[in-house]
Formats: sequence, structure tokens, C-alpha cells
Amino acid sequence: MQIDQAETANIEELMSRIGSGLDQFLKFKHEDCWQSEAQWRARLDVPLPMQGVGIDQVVNDLVTHVIPNGSAVPKPGFTSFITTGATSASVLASAAAGIAAPQRYHLNAFNLLEDVSLRWLASMCHIGSMEGVYSSGGSVANLLALGAARQFAFEKLGHDAGADGVHIPVHVYASAESHHTIQRSAGVLGIGRRATQVIACDSQGRMRVDALRDAIEKNRNSGIVQMAIVASAGTTNTGAIDPLKEIGEIAKENGIWFHVDGAYGLPGILDERIRHLYDGLEMADSVIVDPHKWLGASVGIAATFVRDRQLLYRAFTQEPADYLEGAVKQEAEVAPRIEHSLEGFGVPYYDYGVELSSPCRGVVVWAMLREIGVEGMTKRVKRHNDMAGYIAMAAKEHPNLELLLEPTLSICCFRYVAPGIDDLDSFNRQLHRRLIRENQNMPSTTKVNGKLALRPCFVGARTNQAHADALLKDVLRIGQVLADEWR
Ligand SMILES: Cc1ncc(COP(=O)(O)O)c(C=O)c1O
Repeated sequence: MQIDQAETANIEELMSRIGSGLDQFLKFKHEDCWQSEAQWRARLDVPLPMQGVGIDQVVNDLVTHVIPNGSAVPKPGFTSFITTGATSASVLASAAAGIAAPQRYHLNAFNLLEDVSLRWLASMCHIGSMEGVYSSGGSVANLLALGAARQFAFEKLGHDAGADGVHIPVHVYASAESHHTIQRSAGVLGIGRRATQVIACDSQGRMRVDALRDAIEKNRNSGIVQMAIVASAGTTNTGAIDPLKEIGEIAKENGIWFHVDGAYGLPGILDERIRHLYDGLEMADSVIVDPHKWLGASVGIAATFVRDRQLLYRAFTQEPADYLEGAVKQEAEVAPRIEHSLEGFGVPYYDYGVELSSPCRGVVVWAMLREIGVEGMTKRVKRHNDMAGYIAMAAKEHPNLELLLEPTLSICCFRYVAPGIDDLDSFNRQLHRRLIRENQNMPSTTKVNGKLALRPCFVGARTNQAHADALLKDVLRIGQVLADEWR
């Protein structure tokens, strides 16, 4: 039998070359990849090879042409979207799983860590009584939570929505600032994107409880199934936290599923100074959090938590298949009589969501939490919240800055102002373009109460106070130059 040459290669040596390339990248001395786009495109965008070059050359290409021309996202000064460079522990664990456990099922250490890390995550985020499942990101995590909500709402009517679909109009209540994956989830679940009833927010970007009450009241007795209320624990735009307690009480009074989207902001609960903002979380029927955001996991890891995973099972089971269930002992027969890891699937995560094949994500979360513990995560979250607060303070004090919204978490929305500049939206948009092109400090922009804001969102494990200082300095310097040109 012939073995592929690559499969006899020495991983230790190859990994160490990739490791050197990555260490170099992580110095962030390189220019933005777009400056040399023509070179790397010419090198990489070539016809399908009929003969392979061998793994040695592949590693060379990775180190020389691919890694140095990677994304700006891992830069510590990148504060645009809620995404970040993975920590080393996360990347190493993910590489280990790629080789040692390509699937999350079967009874082995990786399957166990799926379970252990979900429990750790729940405990760290103060939802320790809930059961979880991993998926690829907040989009899918919201989809699973709303799948459980759909199952719950229709079972109350004696109808199995997972098995039979839904034929009655449905409403999901979510604020104007909620993430648009809520709408998409509604579409995928067959209730339609327009099932989402958009509830107005107050000037701080939080769901207005009176508007929610009105919307529910208006639709009472209308024959519409009131399926879920979605609250945000940290909106994408500004980091606002909806009034969870009041919303949870409305959900309970009305027997409606209460979902909390904490994809970004749930780890904020680690900061005891703002923990009270999460009061009411204990009423949630489902909660999501994305380890690949603030916690620093490699991209592709979110967690959905529910009170009873059997609801997820009934919503998403693929139904028994001979090649699966027939191939292992049934649950009752498993431990302690199991004699081989292939005799059991472990926790059947593949029936709690929409993926059968799936990478082991638990090992990544386990590695990150084992590395720095809750204490380390708390320090990171507080550091980033402090940085947003620091920018806010500077924006209030400096005559050329204006704070547009008091930060709740690690996002601060502010803008440059100067006498004689009327069109501040266009001005700050241009300032932002220049800032990005300098390739050091890269916030995004957003609109806050109709005004264009510079919006740094601090979540990176490598991002610290020096980056908040540098961002402020750059905004003031570029703002001044631009203002002189503008007038
Ligand atoms: C609050 C919130 N929910 C959901 C999502 C979607 O997450 P993902 O990009 O991981 O699919 C995001 C993304 O930023 C988010 O901020």
C-alpha cells in the first residue's frame, strides 16, 4: 500500500516552521497585505496543480506568502468588529483536535472536554444550571436557541414543530438594536424573517419595555403564536444591555420563551462593577455566548445554553440512522460495560443542533480557561471596559472630542468635533478612512442616535491600555490635519 508522502511527514518540524512564521506575524511589523497584493496574488492564484510540490514547499509558501499577507483582525489596534485574533492556547488546542480527534463524537478525551468546557463556561457566566451545545458562531447559536423556542411554543399547542413544521403565523420580539441573525434565524426556522417584531430602543440603545408590552398586548388573541422575546446582553452596535429583569418578567407573565443574546457581552458579567445589569439572566430560557469574541477563541466557536437539551433534541434531531445508532451500543448499554471508545457516541451533540460532522470546540474553550482561569478572563474584560471608559472620559474632557454614548461594556462611541465643521458625519467618515489606512488603530464607525460615531470595540487578548492611548492620539492628530484642510 502506498502512503501519501505528506502523511509520513514530521509534524514537529513542520509545525515549528509554521510557528516561526506566526511568531513573526505576531510582531505586527508588517505592512497591510493590500500594499503588496499584486505579488501575493500572482504567487497564489495559479492553476490547479496536476503534480503536487510536496509538503516542504507548502510550508514554505505558507510561511513566505500566506501568513505575512494575512488579515488585519489580529492586530491589537484592530477594534472594528467584534472579532479578534485567537490566543495561542486556543490555536494550539484547535490544531491538536484537528489531528487527534477530527470529530466531536465518540467516547474520548475530546468528547469529554466538550462537556467539561460547556459546564465551565456556564459556571463562569453565571448560568451554571443550563446545558449547552457548541456551534460555529453567534448566528448558528441564535438559530439553535430559537429552534428550541419554536419547539417549546408549538409543543404547548400539541404540535411537534421540528417534525411537522409550522403553519401558523409566529412573532418573535427583538429590539431595533438586536443582531440581524435573529431575523435570519426566523427565516431558516420557517417562520419567516418578517416574524421578527422590531421593538424600539431608548436613547441608550436598550429595548423599551413599554414598547414591548404594547406589541405583545396588540397581538394577544390574534391567533399569532408569540414564540420568543430576544434580549441583548451587549448589543453589537454600542454594547447596550437590555433591561433583562423587566423583559424576563414580561416573558414569564405571558408564557413566552425568553432568549438572551450574549454573543459578545455575556462575559461582561465577570466585571462585578456592572454585574447588576445582568439581573434577570436567571429567568432566561436560552442564552448564547461566543467564545470566539471576547474570550479569544479561534473563529468558529459559539455556545447555546438551554434549560433542557431534550427540547433541542426534539427540534433538531436528524432521526435515528442505522449507520449511526446501529453502530454503537445504546445509551443504557454503555458505561460501565464499554470496552472501546467506538462503542459509544458520548453526549450526542450532533442531535442538539444542525451539524453532524463538527470540529471539537470544547478543547479550545477548555485550553483557554485552563490557561488563565476565570481570574485571567475577568482581568481582560475589566481592562477592556476600563479602556472604553477611559476613551469616554477623554471625549468628555477634550474640546475636540464628543462622547456620543456613555459606554456600558468595552465599546465607546465618540467623534471629533471642531468649530466651523458642520458636516460632522462626513468629516468623521474621512477621519476614519485615514485612520484605517495608517494600519495601526482601526475602530469601526456606527450611527448613534443619527450621528456618525467612531466605535472602538476592545475585545482582543493582545489589546491593552496603550492601544486606547494610541487611538486617542491618532484621532486627535488626524482630526487636526483634516480640520485644517476642511476649512
Ligand atoms: C450580539 C451578537 N449576536 C450575534 C452575532 C453573530 O455572531 P457570529 O458572527 O459569530 O455569527 C454577533 C456578531 O458580532 C453579535 O455581536
